[in-house]
Amino acid sequence: MATITETLPAPAVVESPLNFYTPPKDGSVPYNIVYDVPEGTPTRNYEVLPHKVQITDVRGRESEFTLDKNGFQFEKRYHAFKDWSDAERIEKEYYPSVIDAIKDTTGASKVVVFDNTIRTKDGYRNPVMLVHVDQTPKSAEDRVRLHCPEDADVLLTKRFQIINYWKPLTGPVEEFPLALGDAHDMTEDDIVSVEHRYRDRTGATGGVKYNSTQKFYYLSGMTADEEVLIKCYDSREGVAKRTPHTAFVDPTSKSDALPRESIEVRTLVFYD
Ligand code: OGA
Ligand code: FE
Repeated sequence: MATITETLPAPAVVESPLNFYTPPKDGSVPYNIVYDVPEGTPTRNYEVLPHKVQITDVRGRESEFTLDKNGFQFEKRYHAFKDWSDAERIEKEYYPSVIDAIKDTTGASKVVVFDNTIRTKDGYRNPVMLVHVDQTPKSAEDRVRLHCPEDADVLLTKRFQIINYWKPLTGPVEEFPLALGDAHDMTEDDIVSVEHRYRDRTGATGGVKYNSTQKFYYLSGMTADEEVLIKCYDSREGVAKRTPHTAFVDPTSKSDALPRESIEVRTLVFYD
């Protein structure tokens, strides 16, 4: 009897330069300034260096990647809410559906949204062209104290995470897709704490140094019904702790590509 060997197509890979962190030459504490400064004032004191990397398309095998194994997870979920110009309605109507989705995906008992960022071309923020982790372990804990002051001490005794819920507002995405680094292949040495200076307080983000062992993935042509959960912190040991990520120039984008439009909702995720 003949054997039929099914050969799966090789995953599509694109090659693109990603911008990585390099430490300040004078050895000073690295920082970003994220409030308005007088023109000409530098908003960071470190250099970024592009490195060409291969970014593998996970389309067709999205389910192989999970928050606890890789630090990111794709899903397909319909959100009825669409009025992205109304900040108040985003909080009242979109946040609850994000909270439900994260609870459903993770089994968490409590999810607290602490902000969102919309990225579109008209007057909003741009895609971020720098490999980074949104939080450090210290800034993650500070976030819990800042947003849950009454019960932070109790909440911090149990497992907690910071997860961003990222989705396109329109799609399929034609330019600046989001690349995600597999948490598994990032060493502690690759990630450096960078002060994130707001006007009224100082947080921290992770700058990411290039390392040839790192692996990057993306989901090509993400639609408005597809989301990615990006883990920024996990207090549990032995699971993926955090996922570096960045937007990148997709070499297959056409010159008349529509601008990428996305929203990321940042959440504190607690477990019983
Ligand atoms: C994020 C993020 C960058 C982008 O969601 O945390 O860094 O370009 N996004 O969407
Ligand atoms: Fe980020």
